[in-house]
Amino acid sequence: MAPLSSSNSFLLVLSIVVIGSFIVVSASDLNQDFQITWGDGRAKIVNNGELLTLSLDKASGSGFQSKNEYLFGQIDMQLKLVPGNSAGTVTAYYLSSKGSTWDEIDFEFLGNLSGDPYILHTNVFSQGKGNREQQFYLWFDPTADFHTYSILWNPQHIV
Ligand SMILES: *[C@@H]1O[C@H](CO)[C@@H](O)[C@H](O)[C@H]1NC(C)=O
Repeated sequence: MAPLSSSNSFLLVLSIVVIGSFIVVSASDLNQDFQITWGDGRAKIVNNGELLTLSLDKASGSGFQSKNEYLFGQIDMQLKLVPGNSAGTVTAYYLSSKGSTWDEIDFEFLGNLSGDPYILHTNVFSQGKGNREQQFYLWFDPTADFHTYSILWNPQHIV
């Protein structure tokens, strides 16, 4: 993917709408580094700050975001997607800076009808310009188990 301008720092934002999804972020206390931004009870930090869980019900989903901004890093997200008829659900995590000419890295799973596959969508915005969308058919069932989905972002690459 194309390199981004390094002048802006990113804000890690994770928004997710999935039933019974568990997100694991390695940090000594997630309460220190992350805040729940929406979901009203559907998002929880448990196990003394070791685990953050998000879920979806008929009303809405849930999400969290980092308290700090970061310039470069690697994010490993463990996700298990909603099985069966997941059409209409969106499971996404993204890094984004602020302002009208922002930078952004997106990782998005769009739910599908039973039997039809999830397709992973990625995109990269540089100074407010996207148009770098890529789609991936997965070679495994993302609803059967947790898998680790990573973004590596350093001065040379976004992988
Ligand atoms: C659902 O799966 C079908 C069949 O592969 C595909 O054409 C369609 O784009 C998928 N829908 C979404 C929202 O990913």
